[in-house]
Amino acid sequence: MKETPIDASIVNEKITRSGLTNVGRASIREIRTLINEIEQASGKKFIRMEMGIPGLPAAQIGIDAEKAALDGGCASFYPSIEGIPELKVEISRLIKLFVDIDVSPRGCIPCTGSTSGSFISFLVAGRMNPEKDTVLFLDPGFPVHKQQLNVLGIKQTSLDVYEYRGEALREALENILREGNISSILYSNPNNPTWICFTDTELRIIGELATKYDVVVMEDLAYFTMDFRKDYSIPGRPPFQPSVGKYTDHYILLISSSKAFSYAGQRIGVIAVSNALFERDVPTLNRYYTQTKFGLAAIYGAAYAVSAGVTHSAQYGLAALLKATNDATYRFIDDVKIYGERAKVMKKDFLDNGFYIVYDKDEDEPIADGFYFTVAYPGLTGEELITELMPYGISAISLSNTGSKRLEGIRACVSLVSDEQLPELRERLALFHKNQGAGWSPH
Ligand SMILES: Cc1ncc(COP(=O)(O)O)c(C=O)c1O
Repeated sequence: MKETPIDASIVNEKITRSGLTNVGRASIREIRTLINEIEQASGKKFIRMEMGIPGLPAAQIGIDAEKAALDGGCASFYPSIEGIPELKVEISRLIKLFVDIDVSPRGCIPCTGSTSGSFISFLVAGRMNPEKDTVLFLDPGFPVHKQQLNVLGIKQTSLDVYEYRGEALREALENILREGNISSILYSNPNNPTWICFTDTELRIIGELATKYDVVVMEDLAYFTMDFRKDYSIPGRPPFQPSVGKYTDHYILLISSSKAFSYAGQRIGVIAVSNALFERDVPTLNRYYTQTKFGLAAIYGAAYAVSAGVTHSAQYGLAALLKATNDATYRFIDDVKIYGERAKVMKKDFLDNGFYIVYDKDEDEPIADGFYFTVAYPGLTGEELITELMPYGISAISLSNTGSKRLEGIRACVSLVSDEQLPELRERLALFHKNQGAGWSPH
């Protein structure tokens, strides 16, 4: 048997013991547990690309503001559900300065991570019209969003945008919206898992069709301004983070602090409801909420029911971070652009060793280097590739639970790969490629 960096018999034994009938289809957490066990049994470290978690220290400005708020006694009071005023103002400023659209502080509501922001948004946008009972995902997407709709009992459908970039998106999207059953559309931009970024052409199409078919657009900006091909770092100065908010009135922006500020542990994010949607009176919301105005139903109905407010100190922390960002005294982009630099090196290593990028372009332009990328290896499905790479000490997730139709692909996340591991990644990929070329598999 040929050598692999990790003894293949240990890998095979742990896979059998895990009870997973198909490792390639396992969830991120299941893969994580399996890899932990293989690492422990083999004494060898994996190059871990399965988890999409920040790999940097949390932004200090936030920590300091939280400490001060706790010392000031905020822990003993319930925070107001709509958010502390200073945070609401800074969210509104952030959106003006970096996206160049106006959202009143009234519609800027903190949530316990943008994951809860989408949950709250589904609870309201998904229930505005009994005939519109389905949420449309522009996929690939974040599996938790799909799980949220399962939990809520709200129907979902999906459009994998791979073949429908640029103008081609219009017909594909309109064919679905014409059915009349779609309440809302959700996508992330930059996208998890592929790091594609919708262009202004595509955002205009989404916005125009959303207006035409009276659909709410939920734009998940979990990776706010992290398309490093452009310099979005200077407040109030173009270019701005592209957004559907330029092209429709009925939208919700979901902004996470987890990646931009490496603030994932504090579970705080932002729901920004457009002014027109906030004020919209939707009488049928009275089936669930005492308020029928969209924004008030979202705050006093949905957000109250979900978490009754967001941790007080975390609100002060995020307010301080956003204020420093808006005042240009703190440039979070400088901290996180390391992800782009690392992705560039890692992608090259994959490409040099027989892999190809699956979601490779935004219209005509190669995708940006960022937090994630998708790769495939000729002749293997994504699920097979996950298993084949394990004895080489490389872990990732397949695209099968992301709504992607490109089942040859796997998602690689760069955040937990250290610079010291990069030469090792290169060596391991080269060995994998050599063995594959010789028709040899460790399984
Ligand atoms: C597209 C997308 N949306 C939302 C989230 C969750 O963000 P938060 O930590 O703010 O809940 C993530 C995190 O990985 C994500 O990739």
